[in-house]
Amino acid sequence: MKIMVIGSGGREHAIVKKLLENDTIEEIFVLPGNGGMAKEATCIPIKATDIEKITEFAAKNDIGFAVVTPDDPLALGAVDALEAMGIPAFGPYKAAAEIESSKAFAKALMKKYAIPTAAYEVFCDTEAALEYIKDKPLPIVIKADGLALGKGVIIANTHQKAENAIISMLEDGAFGASGRRIVIEEFLTGPEVSVLTFTDGKTIVPMVSSMDHKRIGEGDTGLNTGGMGTIAPNPYYTEDIAKTCMETIFLPTMNAMNAEGRPFKGCLYFGLMLTNKGPMVIEYNCRFGDPETQVVLSLLETDLFDIMRAVRDERLSDADVRFSNKHACCVIMASSGYPSKYESGFEITLPDSDVNVFIAGARLDDGKLLTAGGRVLGVTATADTLEAAIKKAYDATEKTHFKNAYFRRDIGSAALNALR
Ligand code: AMP
Ligand code: GLY
Repeated sequence: MKIMVIGSGGREHAIVKKLLENDTIEEIFVLPGNGGMAKEATCIPIKATDIEKITEFAAKNDIGFAVVTPDDPLALGAVDALEAMGIPAFGPYKAAAEIESSKAFAKALMKKYAIPTAAYEVFCDTEAALEYIKDKPLPIVIKADGLALGKGVIIANTHQKAENAIISMLEDGAFGASGRRIVIEEFLTGPEVSVLTFTDGKTIVPMVSSMDHKRIGEGDTGLNTGGMGTIAPNPYYTEDIAKTCMETIFLPTMNAMNAEGRPFKGCLYFGLMLTNKGPMVIEYNCRFGDPETQVVLSLLETDLFDIMRAVRDERLSDADVRFSNKHACCVIMASSGYPSKYESGFEITLPDSDVNVFIAGARLDDGKLLTAGGRVLGVTATADTLEAAIKKAYDATEKTHFKNAYFRRDIGSAALNALR
């Protein structure tokens, strides 16, 4: 069968590599993909958000199954469009994708169905928002309602900063239409855990837990990024906590989406914070996380394509979803300057070692792989212990070269400390 993956990053590269373990797949097209995936897949220069061209391509090329990974095509209804023309697709329909594309929708869902999350209010009106924060304790969290590339969250330590954030989102359009409505919520503390799940609306199966490192600087300092590295499993996520999450968060969320007439099928991502009042939802994503996918799928022992088809056909309860007992670490190498301005076009030399290098931002030019993005690649290693996985990933990172490369040297340190 010929299949199609929509998206272009390191997450998509990891998905493509894992899918290829299924030998009924003849060819994978990635739209648009990137030059670093050319060995495994055929990259087609169609933007992930160009639904019309995507469906046209699928029809002309005898595509038997589609995997839609990024948030924006899902929010635009890519799965609805593909399914409408008879192409089975992995990923939520537009109505279900709103669990990520509108924070106001997600928060209202949690409130209605008593799913634990930070207390909040939604505002479109600047005066009302400014009035609301006046006597609220600090820090306070201001979020743009819509998709903002993970950058639409401001944690304000002073009322002045909170006021500036409100004005820049509601008045100055700092996040465009995404920020014309905002959520203001209580600041929570505790370790963060990412849990990706497979769900077909009837069954929900958590994948191995992971820990993202979102800030650009070591010790979790500086600007938020798309993610600078991950480890899995997350040592804070004990079996007891997993059980609580299943009972109070995962199943209630699946059931809530069904009750709202928006059954969720695909990968539902839970961004959790383990507070002293129990696990709470910080955010939902309607898709695989990046770079969580790179570590999580490295530990998946069973067939991803079989699982994805089972999700699509609503027979997930029959699927074999198993993870190894190993540990994984992914170190993201970025262009220095990211997440602000950076230069690209530098040649990449890959390490000669048994790690997986998932390429996120690169292009092929005359057979050479050149940097072409902020996050360039993720060096991903697995081993029997977390410590060994981290060491293996960093050893290979030291052997991966391109000009102006930047990476955090402390990926996994917080997790190691938790184990001590
Ligand atoms: P989000 O895009 O909603 O995942 O937020 C990005 C990051 O901001 C999260 O990973 C948290 O580290 C932080 N954050 C978001 N909401 C809160 C909150 N209510 N309390 C504390 N930190 C938060
Ligand atoms: N790593 C977080 C995300 O994919 O949104």
